[in-house]
Amino acid sequence: MTELVWKTAQETGAHVARVRQAFIDEFGYEPARVFSAPGRVNLIGEHIDYNGGIVMPLALPHRTFVAISPRTDGVLRVTSTQDGSETTGIAADAIAPGAVDSWIAYVVGVPWAMRELGLLDEVTGADIAVDSDVPLGAGLSSSAALECSVALAFDALASGNDSSRQLLAATDEGRKKLATACIKAENEIAGANTGGMDQSISLRASQGSVLTIDCRDFATTKVPLDLAAAGLSLLVIDTRAPHQLNDGQYAKRRAGCDAMADAFGEKFLSSLVTDGTEVKGDVDDAVARWREIASAGEVEVPGEYTVEALLRHVLSEQLRVVETIKLFEAGEPTAGTWSKLGELLTASHASLRDDYQVTCPELDVAVDVALEAGALGARMTGGGFGGSAVALVRAGEQDAVAHAVREAFASRGFNEPHFLSATPEESAREEF
Ligand code: GLA
Repeated sequence: MTELVWKTAQETGAHVARVRQAFIDEFGYEPARVFSAPGRVNLIGEHIDYNGGIVMPLALPHRTFVAISPRTDGVLRVTSTQDGSETTGIAADAIAPGAVDSWIAYVVGVPWAMRELGLLDEVTGADIAVDSDVPLGAGLSSSAALECSVALAFDALASGNDSSRQLLAATDEGRKKLATACIKAENEIAGANTGGMDQSISLRASQGSVLTIDCRDFATTKVPLDLAAAGLSLLVIDTRAPHQLNDGQYAKRRAGCDAMADAFGEKFLSSLVTDGTEVKGDVDDAVARWREIASAGEVEVPGEYTVEALLRHVLSEQLRVVETIKLFEAGEPTAGTWSKLGELLTASHASLRDDYQVTCPELDVAVDVALEAGALGARMTGGGFGGSAVALVRAGEQDAVAHAVREAFASRGFNEPHFLSATPEESAREEF
């Protein structure tokens, strides 16, 4: 049988050495400090962060590392070990929305946003080298991992220069502020109007736990998740179908949701069915209310797909998250817990496929085949339109499920999928 491609995370020491070396090769001197931040998978709660919903991501073992030294001339020079990327320099005062059109927007946008938000007095410049083992374009938040490691770096450099400045990364409250800056950088400098889940988990994750994030105010709760103890694992299938969040599809869904939120006069769409974890309404009622509003003709409905279907997804996904939280709150997980979780994951996928329409043939095949091969549940994860799926599988069956997906992809002429195993790891940190 052909070998499967597993993307295991690099050992930390080796990774630190690599990014330090990349820095020395490019800039000719030793970097002052090294920081890293993880990619993520979302267990459940998709496309509801920007609707004020509750999401349940976990940080991956795969991380982005940055080596950094401060400069005093206001210039940011950025290099990466990624094939084909060129070292680029930009003056800090040239960074502005619309002014940076390469991947370095995810780097230089962060100190810009920190300064805009008053988290940095000034951007004095820096040399930065980047090295990552978060698969790129796989829907696993390689961009948030980059932003968050850079945020930690500028936070640390600023506190190093000024002993009266408190290190934001030292507290969860401070990390929440850094996440806000990373979101602003991604929205305004990189031009991807994403919702904040990815930056929040990368900066605030806790090893061994999934984080529930209530995106009304980004309050978090840790939910311990020990799949190994239950003889299970979370298989990530990177479909390697091309995926981008700034190509208009994501923005269209978001515009539809914003129109509904305006029409309902409610800031948070998901509060139509829940208030946090308290269920207070049902999806059919909310959809019926929407029909009345829409038929009165007073709202402009953007996009060619039905906004009603978007609403159904957003509300039903929020209820699935609430059910998931309650499952974990019910005490020691049993076999019933895991099979119910599996059902919720699969139902989430169906809703993203049929109502929200953000899946693609590769994601649908990955999910269907994983289920046929014995997965307890499976769904796309992240923004969709390519990227990755997650499958909850019995640990002993992980390889068989992966082989079945690989064969199904080969027979359809899809790209060869890559695989990784997701365990909840640590948030962004300094490396020594
Ligand atoms: C991307 C975005 C997130 C979130 C997901 C969908 O990962 O960056 O903010 O909206 O898509 O859940």
